[in-house]
Amino acid sequence: MKRRRVLFVDHAAVLGGAELSLLDLATAYRDTSEVLLFADGPFRERLEAAQVKVKVIPAPQSILAVKTSGGLSAVKALPALWWMARQIAAAGREFDLVHANSQKAFIAAAIATLMGGRPVVWHLRDIVTAQHFSSVNRAIAVFLANHRVSQVLVNSRATGEAFIAAGGRKDLVTLVYNGIGSDPFDNLASDQSAQIRDQLGIGDAPLVGVFSRLSYWKGQHILLEALQELPNVHALLVGKALFGEAEYASRLEAMAAAPELAGRVHMLGFRNDVPALMSAGNIVVHTSTEPEPFGRVIVEGQLAKRPVVAAAAGGAVELIQDGVTGHLVPPGDSVALAKVIGNLLSDPIAADRLAERGYIHAKDTFSLESLLTAFDQALNKV
Ligand code: UDP
Ligand code: GLC
Repeated sequence: MKRRRVLFVDHAAVLGGAELSLLDLATAYRDTSEVLLFADGPFRERLEAAQVKVKVIPAPQSILAVKTSGGLSAVKALPALWWMARQIAAAGREFDLVHANSQKAFIAAAIATLMGGRPVVWHLRDIVTAQHFSSVNRAIAVFLANHRVSQVLVNSRATGEAFIAAGGRKDLVTLVYNGIGSDPFDNLASDQSAQIRDQLGIGDAPLVGVFSRLSYWKGQHILLEALQELPNVHALLVGKALFGEAEYASRLEAMAAAPELAGRVHMLGFRNDVPALMSAGNIVVHTSTEPEPFGRVIVEGQLAKRPVVAAAAGGAVELIQDGVTGHLVPPGDSVALAKVIGNLLSDPIAADRLAERGYIHAKDTFSLESLLTAFDQALNKV
């Protein structure tokens, strides 16, 4: 099948979940398509390693500094946004459509349609509620979506519902769940987990891992609080602060150094070997304190054949059936989390059964193939 010619646009060059999801799409589309980034960084390297053509047009600092939760201060970025829109309109000429993978990319791409730019598909990967978006920014985003884009692809039903609740047009919305390739999970060398445990120096102590960028709403502190009630259990924190949240990282380090936890918390920073690290642990937890739009790490934990415990909000409840393919606990509730972890560790047979069902579910429902089928279909309608 000949794929559409797509200019994928993303403002970020770090490796967040939105970028890792785009990596799979752009790789599948590399014969006809290209990626435009507003900054240079590790994402460009990963795309190029996958033989995807990348163009970096550095955005003026004023655009990169805008916070979605900020108010009218974004007005300062308007001239730069206009300039960026012009670049997208020009770069898009050789393509059938523009795919905007991030908020900032979407705003610039939507403005570009006023300059003769190609039709825009907005891949919405955030829950647009007051928790993350100021009312001004929400209103602007919804207005531009309703009037300037051809489709809004959403990564979960929760993401779509929040967009519609904010005033977004229902007829624009198409659900495209993320898909995760299972090969890196299925093809791990048999000694990899043991090597990681050796490096951690933890013998066969129980190990619970969280695999998200360090950010307050990702809630790593909830796992550390839970750990206080779980003597002998170790925690693995994989990920770093990607979007200027270094203060939260320091707070976690301080918590980890407290006498009750000292020696039991292993903070590894950003890693490229998540499948092996998940397999080295007994349980994968997801601790977001606010609704997670999708949560790749949940599906990855299932693919790693580990029991997954996730915070019951947003897209997470679409990925896990409680007690069947994983466990759900109320967001921010460290006591409930500690209890579920304790139960899983004390009943390894039940934990294995849960993990096995999670694996089958993830493989059936969130495969790369089903992602691409849904994505191709959506783009063919534009
Ligand atoms: N991840 C990674 N290295 C790390 C931490 C996380 O590669 O050190 C990956 C993780 O495996 C997942 C993604 O980053 O694929 C995070 O995506 P998710 O959808 O869970 O959250 P987001 O960061 O997009 O909000
Ligand atoms: C965003 C969301 C995350 C989702 C990812 C990929 O970064 O925060 O929940 O999994 O996009 O769609």
